[in-house]
Formats: sequence, structure tokens, C-alpha cells
Amino acid sequence: MIFTLILSVTLCSISQGLDNGLAVTPPMGWLSWERYRCNIDCDNDPDNCISENLYTAMADAMVTEGYKDKGYEYVNVDDCWMEKERDANGTLVADRKRFPHGMKWLADYMHAKGLKLGIYEDFGTFTCGGYPGSEFYLQKDAETFASWGIDMVKLDGCNSNIQDMEYGYPAMSLFLNQTGRPMLYSCSWPAYVVFSKQIPDYKKIASYCNIWRNYADIQDSWDSVRGIIEFYGNDTGNFSLVAGPGNYNDPDMIIVGDYGLSYDQQRVQMAMWAIMSAPLLISVDLRNVKPEAKALLQSDILIRINQDANGSMGKRIMKNGAMEIWTKKLGFDFKGMAFAFLNLDDGGGPLRVNMRLYEIGLTNTEGYNVTEGFTGEFIGVLKPYDVINASVNPSGIWLGMAY
Ligand SMILES: *[C@@H]1O[C@H](CO)[C@@H](O)[C@H](O)[C@H]1NC(C)=O
Ligand SMILES: *[C@@H]1O[C@H](CO)[C@@H](O)[C@H](O)[C@H]1NC(C)=O
Ligand SMILES: *[C@@H]1O[C@H](CO)[C@@H](O)[C@H](O)[C@H]1NC(C)=O
Ligand SMILES: *[C@@H]1O[C@H](CO)[C@@H](O)[C@H](O)[C@H]1NC(C)=O
Ligand SMILES: *[C@@H]1O[C@H](CO)[C@@H](O)[C@H](O)[C@H]1NC(C)=O
Repeated sequence: MIFTLILSVTLCSISQGLDNGLAVTPPMGWLSWERYRCNIDCDNDPDNCISENLYTAMADAMVTEGYKDKGYEYVNVDDCWMEKERDANGTLVADRKRFPHGMKWLADYMHAKGLKLGIYEDFGTFTCGGYPGSEFYLQKDAETFASWGIDMVKLDGCNSNIQDMEYGYPAMSLFLNQTGRPMLYSCSWPAYVVFSKQIPDYKKIASYCNIWRNYADIQDSWDSVRGIIEFYGNDTGNFSLVAGPGNYNDPDMIIVGDYGLSYDQQRVQMAMWAIMSAPLLISVDLRNVKPEAKALLQSDILIRINQDANGSMGKRIMKNGAMEIWTKKLGFDFKGMAFAFLNLDDGGGPLRVNMRLYEIGLTNTEGYNVTEGFTGEFIGVLKPYDVINASVNPSGIWLGMAY
């Protein structure tokens, strides 16, 4: 392994989370994968194929449909953007037919709109879709991305050896840093460790990566969303503890506005991703989002919970059958809190919840201003022994804020 030597020197000098000034709060933007996959059929499906047209169209919609004003800024390319071969100098090349102007042009396009461009590569010999991987080219690819003006790099882990990851992902972190261009670094590393039934070393991962894909890829279904929430509730390996400014667990893309979730389930995903301090990377056709989904994606309250400056990750504090309670502490002093009653039952009618504030950790005897989390409606000034009454739909959520 060529990079082990270099790393043994550098590894010791870093003890805290990666500090490149990026992902101070969870990154917000758009990512093509869940919705557009590896659709490269631009002849028959020109509006939806992986091409510069798709990314410029999403960038335009991000601005005109109001997403940018709410804080969404990254437009992220995923797999299948490349030519199948590197050029004669070993440099990656964007597909010449689908990206005729090249990636530098695309980055310039984003920057001119006040947006940022993210790109995708893979640590192994090939990407998951079979395009050239970065193995043996990590430094070169980091330099190429910097020269194009890329702002975020997602490094997947298909077609690689899991034992090499603990060297390879840190090596790429170093090479990205050495380019001098701040590029948010998204590692798929722990997802592969979890697949292999091991517990990732999250502290180590956080010292090299800004965000890291933790757990299976999201699919456009409630089963998938529920499974991810369960994994985050279990918190095996205590990954919640390493979240904070510069470092976030990534439970994968937001699918609110796609096909698979009911309205209640869309509320669950958006509220839970806010509570989990997850990156908000939407994978949906921004040109065409139903008003109710758009209202969730652009909810000021949900975004405020997600973007809380403390950056702590919310936790599941209680589980009783299908009912779970999650809380996220808010603010530098942890004085505020977002709390959710989550009903994972998939039948029957609404569940009634009656909770005293102290039971969910709200113990300040001065009391709290309590509001409903989706509407912002004021519920009252409540003391620790006062009761919150909530009605929670099946596969639904009730969200509150106390401050
Ligand atoms: C390879 O690099 C050389 C020297 O920098 C350059 O002149 C040449 O144009 C490059 N070839 C390609 C295919 O980019
Ligand atoms: C490189 O790492 C140093 C030390 O952590 C950091 O101060 C600097 O901002 C990083 N630069 C880039 C471009 O990531
Ligand atoms: C969560 O933990 C429970 C109990 O240990 C286990 O049965 C379940 O498989 C775990 N779920 C996930 C998604 O890790
Ligand atoms: C996680 O934290 C709990 C309590 O803080 C501790 O008992 C447990 O050993 C930790 N687990 C891991 C895998 O670090
Ligand atoms: C988050 O809040 C906790 C508790 O007040 C505090 O210890 C920690 O330093 C805060 N972190 C940040 C980044 O504000």
C-alpha cells in the first residue's frame, strides 16, 4: 500500500473531528442517486438522464422554486457521470456526450448561481455502476476535482477491500486537504463496515470525513425509512456521540416528494432527519414537487431543528412497542429541545400519548414555551409536571419544540 507510510506520520497529528471549515451544520442540497440512479439513456429520456442538463435544470429549480433561499446549496452528481476510460494521462473524463461542456463548466454554472457542485467517485477499482474507480488514483483524482472547482466529494466503496478502507479513506482526506481547495468529504466507509457485520470506529471516521454514509442505501419505501430510523435508534457503536459541527452521520437522501411515502410518512422522514442532524440531500424532481411535499422540504421549523448550531444528534430515549420517543437538544446551552412521538404501527387509528415534560427530560422548573413542531402553533408555557397530549397517526409523528 503506497499511502501507509505517508499516513503513519499524519494520522497521529489529528485527534479531533475533521476540521476543514465545512459542514459546520448538516449540509443541505440535492443528490441525483435515489431518483435518477444510473439512467444514461439520454436519447429516449433526455430530461431525466444523468447529464449536465439534469444538473443545470435542478440548479435552476433550486433557485426558482425557493429551495436555495431556505439553505439548500449543494447540487450533487452521483454515479455514472464518467467516460468508461480515463484519458491518456490517467485523468477522469466526464461522459463526452452527456456532459459536453465538462465538469469545470458545470461547477462554474453552479457557482454563478451561488450554488455548489458535488461529485461522486469510488474508493475501489470501479464505481458501483462500473465506471473507473479511484484506487491507485486518489491523489490525482483529488487534484482533478480541485481543478474543476468541485465543492463536495462522495467516495463510495464498491469493488474494494474493506481492510484497505482504513488507509484509503484517510488518504483521500489528506489528498483533498493538500489541494488547498475546501471540499466537503462524504465517506461511504462505515456503510461497508456495517454490511460486514462489524461496528465501525466512528471516532476515527469522524477525524477524516465531514459526513459518512451510515447504514444501507435508502430506497423509495417506508420499509427502508423505518429500517434506517431503527438503526439510528439502536445507535450501535455510539455514533450519535461523534456528531457535531464539521461531522455528521448520513442516513441517506430525503425522498419526500417521490413516490413511496404517504403524507404522514413524509412528515416522519423530514422530522426525523431534522432530529438526527442528518444532511438534507433531497433526491426528487425539483421541477415537479407536490405543494404538500414542498412545504415539508422548505419548512422553516424543521430546517431550524436540523441546522441547530450545537449539531448534536437526537436520540431515541424510549421505545414501547411501536411507540418511540426521540429528543434532540438544541442551542449552545442545551436549553431547548425538539421532541417527537413516533408511531411505527402500520395499522389501526391514531395512538394517544400523554406525557409529563419531565419524563422526556424537560426538568427546568421555570417551565418552557412549547409549540407544535410542524405548524409552530403555541401550546403554552408548561412546567415539568404539566402534561402534553398528542395524537399520533399510524406510521406518523407528532413533533414538539420546547425552549
Ligand atoms: C496530458 O498531459 C500533457 C502534459 O501536461 C498535455 O500536454 C496533454 O494535453 C494531456 N493529454 C490529455 C489527453 O489531456
Ligand atoms: C487542511 O487541514 C488543516 C488542518 O486540519 C485545516 O486547517 C485546513 O483548513 C485544511 N484545508 C483544506 C483545504 O481542507
Ligand atoms: C436494532 O436492535 C434490535 C435489538 O437489538 C435488533 O433486533 C435490530 O435488528 C436492530 N436493528 C437494526 C436496523 O440494526
Ligand atoms: C456506548 O455507550 C454506552 C454508555 O455510554 C457504553 O456502555 C457502551 O459500551 C458504548 N458502546 C460502544 C460500542 O462504544
Ligand atoms: C453543545 O451543547 C453542550 C451542552 O451545553 C456543550 O457542552 C457543547 O460544547 C455544545 N457544542 C457546541 C458545538 O455548541
